[in-house]
Amino acid sequence: MTHNLNSPIGIYDSGVGGLTVLRRLRALLPGEDIIYFGDSANCPFGNRSRQELNAITQRILDFFGSRGAKLTVSACNTTSALFQLEGEPDCGFKVLSIIEPIAGHLARLGLEEVGVIATEFTVNSGMYEKLIQKASPGTKVWGQGSPSLARLVDTGRFGGDEIPTEVHRLTSELLSRRALSHIILACTHYPIVDGEFMMAAPEVTFLDPAASQAEATSQLLAEQGLLNPQAKGKLEVYTSGHPALFEEVAGRLGIEGIGRVEHLVL
Ligand code: DGL
Repeated sequence: MTHNLNSPIGIYDSGVGGLTVLRRLRALLPGEDIIYFGDSANCPFGNRSRQELNAITQRILDFFGSRGAKLTVSACNTTSALFQLEGEPDCGFKVLSIIEPIAGHLARLGLEEVGVIATEFTVNSGMYEKLIQKASPGTKVWGQGSPSLARLVDTGRFGGDEIPTEVHRLTSELLSRRALSHIILACTHYPIVDGEFMMAAPEVTFLDPAASQAEATSQLLAEQGLLNPQAKGKLEVYTSGHPALFEEVAGRLGIEGIGRVEHLVL
């Protein structure tokens, strides 16, 4: 399907995490029509094999292709790392990584070292390290993987002990290896519980890659002459999980106009 400046942008993640990217994108590009897909039925992506992730992302990109997307935003660090390992998928539209834009932002901050807390897939891929060192040679990267935090957030376990306990474990293990001033929350589910991170390590500045990715999206659309000039874009949200959780998390993040979240299995 051919696309033009009125075509929608696709955003996807393994669940509610990508709403942290949706929030930034809507603030920066209010005129864009957006289709969001959160694949909670397949969450966590970060514990899956490359083969499984390829099959999952293929279905998601086919869906956005069938809706005539002009661009897809990978609001998922895990599959952004996958595409960095395997090459960007050839699907007729650009799939924008979340890792490259934050690596560029970091170079402007001029840090000598930085922590990265992410899924095990993302940490094991080594892609944060590679892209950060490409943008700022000499910057040392300290990675810490979690097998469970994305899933805890994606099942809405707010208010209990499990999320604070895992956040505390992650920050204290990382900071015991190195006293870092900056840590990237390199899984889009984590900024939903950034208050827990700030409580666990108040001396650290936590960075959310979503802001840099939204800026990169805006820049790319402008370069391609694909910015939608309308004042207010439409938003459609789909999930293979529970729509009520998406409405709750959108509320926590202050995202307005999310409307009715539809259940969809691809
Ligand atoms: N939110 C995703 C990420 O940024 C994936 C989390 C998961 O499902 O493991 O990595």
